[in-house]
Amino acid sequence: MQARGLEGGTMSHQASGAKVTRSRPFVKWAGGKRQLLNVLAVNVPEKYDTYIEPFVGGGALMFELLPKQAIISDINAELINAYLVIRNNVDKLIRSLARKNNKEVFFYKERAKDTSLMDKVQRASRFIYLNKTCYNGLYRENSRGEFNVPFGDYQNPAILDRENLLNISAYLNSSDVRIYHQDYKQTVLLAKSNDFVYLDPPYHPLTATSSFTKYSKGDFSDNDQIELSEVFTALNEKGCHVMLSNSNTEFIKDLYRGYNIQEIEANRAINCKGDKRGRGLFEVLIKNWS
Ligand SMILES: C[S@@+](CC[C@H](N)C(=O)[O-])C[C@H]1O[C@@H](n2cnc3c(N)ncnc32)[C@H](O)[C@@H]1O
Repeated sequence: MQARGLEGGTMSHQASGAKVTRSRPFVKWAGGKRQLLNVLAVNVPEKYDTYIEPFVGGGALMFELLPKQAIISDINAELINAYLVIRNNVDKLIRSLARKNNKEVFFYKERAKDTSLMDKVQRASRFIYLNKTCYNGLYRENSRGEFNVPFGDYQNPAILDRENLLNISAYLNSSDVRIYHQDYKQTVLLAKSNDFVYLDPPYHPLTATSSFTKYSKGDFSDNDQIELSEVFTALNEKGCHVMLSNSNTEFIKDLYRGYNIQEIEANRAINCKGDKRGRGLFEVLIKNWS
């Protein structure tokens, strides 16, 4: 049975026999869906076989639904390594995070480390630590692929959220969740009829300069959005339930003409510096069913 609706963070249900508690993302993530969970959860199909999220990011919807069978992927290697370490080695990860602190000098030392010399647990620990302590939880790399977001200088960042990491680990270990570091186009090849595919790609910019669409080397261009709409149609023809989030722009609505398009209220930066925020129908939720 799939969980739908939101009643706070304490609901638990059975996944493969083990009791699993609803979790939340272990990273702050640009475009993360925690604010929109109310809207998303009521739009999830009643029944489906496998939950597939090819642009998983922080995985807000998956951690809300806790599907028993899932396939998730992302192009960001450090993010996917962190999911795998939480599943395979959470105790060591917790011990490593417990040794980190929120001092500026420590942050820059950690940021400067060469990840190719680190093991998987050290890399996951560094990734989560930098996400919690850097400016705005952004993930940005320079042309050499090095993380380059500055220190956030927050009062009390939750560097180690032990309970949530343990909950996530319990969920990933008691359910059939396949986790891949790969392009979304590889992941959608695994979809079968009656699966539910939630596509949450980097958003089409509302204005030429307003949106953050860079999560690792490479951008998501207009051509990528066009290709994605073709993938959406192919999944529709395969008999999947397909749901997609994106910006509320004419370009996007044109690409998905003929599908069920809902305009969604969301918060957005409303000036070009991003320091003023407003609420409006800035997003769309597109489904291939009513
Ligand atoms: C809008 S975010 C997803 C947010 C997520 N739903 C959440 O709740 O945090 C888009 C994600 O797509 C990933 N991404 C970008 N291009 C990709 C590609 N070609 N294939 C797979 N993932 C990609 C980014 O790394 C990012 O994590």
